[in-house]
Amino acid sequence: MTDTREHWSARSGFIIAAIGSAIGLGNIWRFPYVAYENGGGAFLIPYLVALLTAGLPLLFLDYAVGHRSNGAPPKAYQQLSKPAEPLGWWQACVCIVIALYYASVLTWAGSYIYFSFGQSWGTDPESFFFSNFLATSQSSGFDMTFISHLFWPLIGVWALVLFILYGGVRKGVELANRIFMPILLVLFGILVIQALRLPGAVDGLNAFFTPNWEAMKNYKVWLAAYGHIFFSLSIGFGIMVTYASYLKPKTNLTGSGLVIGFANSSFEILAGIGVFAALGFMAHAAGTSVQDVVSGGIGLAFIAFPKIISSLGAGAELFGILFFASLFVAGVSSMVSILQVPISAMQDKLSWSRAKAVTIIGGGTGAVSIFLFSSANAIKLVDIIDHFINNLGIVSGALVSIIMVSWFKRSLMKQLEQHVNRVSTVQLGPVWELTLTIVTPVVLISTLGLALSALLQKGYGDYAMSLQLWFGWGCILFCAIGALFMSSLKNR
Ligand code: ALA
Repeated sequence: MTDTREHWSARSGFIIAAIGSAIGLGNIWRFPYVAYENGGGAFLIPYLVALLTAGLPLLFLDYAVGHRSNGAPPKAYQQLSKPAEPLGWWQACVCIVIALYYASVLTWAGSYIYFSFGQSWGTDPESFFFSNFLATSQSSGFDMTFISHLFWPLIGVWALVLFILYGGVRKGVELANRIFMPILLVLFGILVIQALRLPGAVDGLNAFFTPNWEAMKNYKVWLAAYGHIFFSLSIGFGIMVTYASYLKPKTNLTGSGLVIGFANSSFEILAGIGVFAALGFMAHAAGTSVQDVVSGGIGLAFIAFPKIISSLGAGAELFGILFFASLFVAGVSSMVSILQVPISAMQDKLSWSRAKAVTIIGGGTGAVSIFLFSSANAIKLVDIIDHFINNLGIVSGALVSIIMVSWFKRSLMKQLEQHVNRVSTVQLGPVWELTLTIVTPVVLISTLGLALSALLQKGYGDYAMSLQLWFGWGCILFCAIGALFMSSLKNR
């Protein structure tokens, strides 16, 4: 059979695209906050342990699975073991769910680039964000009141992402990343240098880097580190399997993985430095301590940063544009990779052309996303869906893919190891096997067990049960039904 699958133009194209996928919204606003909340500097130790014992081993496994099969997750897992096809569709459905709300946060970042001119958020960024911009519904249940200033930017974000995807792997995804990644590096580099020059920056860095050793005795800190690494490295939900499937047969997989893992973590730590230097400045200006100015994930980017930006005087506009443009650029390249998974899966299964797959899958997901997130419920839905899909959807998909080879089909694990070792410089061996057989499954089972029991007993946050049922559990049900339904169809 002739190989008709698209390929990256060169290994560098794959590496840049995989870095573009890994560096995303998770790195810039999620990591600094998670790190701070979980022991500051001491978090870097669990984080690095998680990277070495779960992040990189699973990254190599994803590469091996995708590269050996030349397919997106459904085809790739089916080739490993016929009954495993639903696992691949589960991961593809998880990506569809993530894309729904990822687009929404991206839209906010894009709008805030515009708001940075003249600092439209005025003196109270919090009420600007919740009341003026998002027009957050006060009702605890459904409120689909249409908000036009969320609608148009959402159309714009989806149009941009689909435009890149229509271009294909080489002329779309790879080209976009070759343009976006250098831009991101320059924008973010300037931002961090600027932040470090602000008065009070050192206090912020002290807050970030001063270890809280007590925190390391808390198992939740360790779970937070492991939980973060999957989302951040784009592993366990099909992206790296799909990206590796477009590689040419002889490609150094572990060498590439090490470069990608190192780049992602360096960027993450750089983001922590930049964000905390800016928070230090904010505390300095307000005459309080850094602890008092840190706020949660979304709040950090869209409330704390506008406050910092406004207090900068002459440099405010430049700083705001740099920050929100970095968030936007990093997010677009990740969003492209997230959608690439279900698109590629449909091409494999039904022999659809790329244009058809992008139109139906990308266009369909976009239509639902635009409908849901141009409403007064936008922020609630982002929060609920993000929580359920990360804690249940990603974690369970990653766990099953790992124990399938490490517990139930050891011979497959050996074959995958040999496959990687045939083409790579750094060789996999007993350490890789041990981490995937013991460390990662134990951590993932604990994470999943804790998340499930908390959700079943208490639900999530203060949200109305109807919203949690429809959008939290509903998304999980969507993935389950999608996985079974798609696997029941015949390959074309
Ligand atoms: N890895 C991507 C992020 O960090 C999905 O946002």
